[in-house]
Amino acid sequence: MSLKKVGVLTSGGDAPGMNAAIRSVVRTGINHGWEMVGVRNGYQGLLSENFSALGARDVGGILQQGGTMLGSARCLEFKTPDGQRKAIRNLNRAGIDALVVIGGNGSQTGTAKLHELGFPVVGVASTIDNDLYGSDITIGVDTALNIALEAIDRLKTTASSHQRAFLIEVMGRDCGYLALMAAIAGGAERVLIPEVDFDPEEVAQEISDAYDKGKAHAIIVVAEGAKYNAEALVEYFSKHEERLGFSLRASILGHIQRGGRPTAYDRTLASRLGAGATAALARGEYGVLVGMIKSEIATTPIGEVVTTKKPLDLSLFELQRILD
Ligand code: ADP
Ligand code: F6P
Repeated sequence: MSLKKVGVLTSGGDAPGMNAAIRSVVRTGINHGWEMVGVRNGYQGLLSENFSALGARDVGGILQQGGTMLGSARCLEFKTPDGQRKAIRNLNRAGIDALVVIGGNGSQTGTAKLHELGFPVVGVASTIDNDLYGSDITIGVDTALNIALEAIDRLKTTASSHQRAFLIEVMGRDCGYLALMAAIAGGAERVLIPEVDFDPEEVAQEISDAYDKGKAHAIIVVAEGAKYNAEALVEYFSKHEERLGFSLRASILGHIQRGGRPTAYDRTLASRLGAGATAALARGEYGVLVGMIKSEIATTPIGEVVTTKKPLDLSLFELQRILD
């Protein structure tokens, strides 16, 4: 089938670099000879027919900006079979014959549903969580990691001045990748991730050990999805402060991690993955996720992507333990 009009949307949590991906999809799509259409606010825009033509100039000046010029949303109606059929009816009515979905795990589950229903679609791996099977690294991870790192560096200064123990909670949903890499790059004393069980007493012991070793501070990085998050750990440490001999100060980075200007790495990754998506469409390879595997652009069947859990390389956890 020769394509004429191709849509693009961003869905789920925004990730720095999504704009670079939109720009790349639009400009490489035009280069393939297609009319390009932006869908506003993720799957919500498919249901409300929120479509607008995108020319090469419409995506100018966005490369260096975080967020997404198309808007993003979490859309419950699209999760239902009726919602998905309505989305396809609206796409057909607008004459859009293929779609690029830029987003994370949930969004790519939506891609898989559209593919199962026979609509030509490809996904682009984009989430700060780096939890998407089919891409070693996803758009937004590098920027989010650098933001977390800057926070760790700053907190270390204060922690050293006051000989304090600091807890820094980073995002990542159920995945410990961001926390683990931030801990390695930031020289933290300990990292707490969902993939590895731990006990608060063990964390207390490590903080004591850090002081015994002559360290001026103790920095603990905790993933939001860990068994005990920052709030739970602060509560535990406050309750046992007298016995443990110290309290924990916590900083929860939250959405600050998603709002940064994309790094060079994220801009180039997004530009390459966006081009990979239109290339896949051009050769008729539908129903795939476009990601980066071993530094090469790679496609993986979308059904496999959404049913396979991406493993976390636990040798990195061991490395962090040695380097602390
Ligand atoms: P992310 O893509 O960042 O993981 P979400 O998990 O919130 O974000 O998913 C984004 C959107 O993708 C949801 O609001 C919904 O519209 C769509 N989506 C998520 N899960 C499904 C599903 N099981 N079936 C169809 N669509 C889904
Ligand atoms: O998926 C990206 C992410 O930032 C996760 O790290 C986090 O758990 C979630 O989104 C937060 O969702 P929301 O932006 O809806 O609060």
